[in-house]
Amino acid sequence: MSSLAPRPTTLLFERAEVDQLDEVMAIMAGAFSPDYGEAWTRSQCAGIMPMSGVVLTLAREQASAEARGFSLLRTVADEAELLLIGVAPRFQRSGIGRALLDHFIAHSSGCGARRLHLEVRDGNLAAGMYRATGFAVAGRRHHYYRGADGSQFDALTLVLEPNQG
Ligand SMILES: CC(C)(COP(=O)(O)OP(=O)(O)OC[C@H]1O[C@@H](n2cnc3c(N)ncnc32)[C@H](O)[C@@H]1OP(=O)(O)O)[C@@H](O)C(=O)NCCC(=O)NCCS
Repeated sequence: MSSLAPRPTTLLFERAEVDQLDEVMAIMAGAFSPDYGEAWTRSQCAGIMPMSGVVLTLAREQASAEARGFSLLRTVADEAELLLIGVAPRFQRSGIGRALLDHFIAHSSGCGARRLHLEVRDGNLAAGMYRATGFAVAGRRHHYYRGADGSQFDALTLVLEPNQG
């Protein structure tokens, strides 16, 4: 067998606290283009983290302990929202985003959420991942995102009700 065969990657999901925000912001800066205004600032992330039901998750590669992706979610009563999800560019398209999304669905369902939602910029290729997981478009928010040059972009609101068959 070739010694160049890729090593299997094991991801660990870790609940992150404010002192892991450096790792999150490094992934955020690489993953999100400033053209669209989808990324959050460090103070926006730090500001929401103490709120009830908010969970920041880091996906780490087990062998290297390197943080490769993150998600930020909030559960409120029987609803959950995926606020952010990002994967470091050089590790994209290897299943980490889908694993984080599955983790969001499992965590939210485990907390009693019956309706999961998120916003995604109209045109963001991440929509393919959400659709493949069963999310459906439920609405549109006009001019929801504003890019660095002032351009505005619509958001689609996507919804999943995991236990509706
Ligand atoms: C969206 C994102 C988190 C997906 O992470 P990822 O690790 O690359 O995702 P996966 O490898 O699990 O891919 C899942 C599916 O998403 C879709 N997808 C993701 N990126 C895509 C791209 N650039 N082009 C086409 N489809 C894409 C595909 O359907 C893909 O499945 P496939 O590889 O079997 O075709 C990642 O691309 C990212 O960080 N993007 C920038 C930040 C962002 O836009 N976040 C979402 C809005 S909050």
